[in-house]
Amino acid sequence: MDRYGVFGNPIGHSKSPLIHRLFAEQTGEPLSYEALLAPLDDFAGFARRFFAEGKGANVTVPFKEQAFQLADSLTARAQRAGAVNTLKKLDDGSLLGDNTDGAGLVRDLMVNAGFELRGKRILLLGAGGAVRGVLEPMLAQQPAALVIANRTVAKAEQLASEFADLGPVVASGFDWLDAPLDLIINGTSASLAGELPPIAASLIEPGHTLCYDMMYGKQPTAFNCWAAEQGAARALDGLGMLVEQAAEAFLLWRGVRPDSAPVLAEMRRQLA
Ligand code: ATR
Repeated sequence: MDRYGVFGNPIGHSKSPLIHRLFAEQTGEPLSYEALLAPLDDFAGFARRFFAEGKGANVTVPFKEQAFQLADSLTARAQRAGAVNTLKKLDDGSLLGDNTDGAGLVRDLMVNAGFELRGKRILLLGAGGAVRGVLEPMLAQQPAALVIANRTVAKAEQLASEFADLGPVVASGFDWLDAPLDLIINGTSASLAGELPPIAASLIEPGHTLCYDMMYGKQPTAFNCWAAEQGAARALDGLGMLVEQAAEAFLLWRGVRPDSAPVLAEMRRQLA
């Protein structure tokens, strides 16, 4: 049995062990996967001890930047994200760092929701790690425009300038915008506090705009409730992104892409 796990602190509520156990059952891959509480003051030492035996790990809050530093080599998307959510021990014993968050979001949108990103006008709310992590894969789909709006506009401007070579990305304040978008993605942590990014209702074209919150919960998030009230065509939560980023990690580790649909259905059932 090859050993895998997820490093975080706290880690108790992680859904990754269940997702990867379901993937392993489905594909017949011989692996174990456990949630591991890494110490805040010695992430690198903890990870190195794990990898004496372990084959791969996911990395979650607050260690994604430290995992970026720890990796011996990086995929292009992890390099751009400045953060690593997946580590893989290569045959020579070195650690490859990848970031599958953006690919997970893109796959959830394009495959699960059937939403084509090419040529679309997209608004990303927030300019923290969650948004940085998805910019490269989003821009790779060639949207017509990608606007990053943030409470602290300087952070949106910084991201827009860092990713400008990859496509049509611009920064904005929340209240600078009024024209409708095709897709609005909430990548702020406002939903955690039950709060809403203060954007105009006119950004949603009733029956047309797709809204997506990277957060999820038992109940619809504050952002998704608001989006539904404004008549958004659909309001999707981030559970699909969670399962898809896990599927991308599983693919990197094992060379097999699991079928995410039944696993997402099971996760949705358990959440309810
Ligand atoms: P993460 O890694 O989850 O992205 P982060 O890096 O701390 O976390 O970023 C949190 C994001 O949510 C930021 O864009 C933050 O805005 P600021 O940069 O202005 O701080 C945003 N955010 C958090 N609470 C918010 C709220 N109540 N309304 C709007 N934006 C909020």
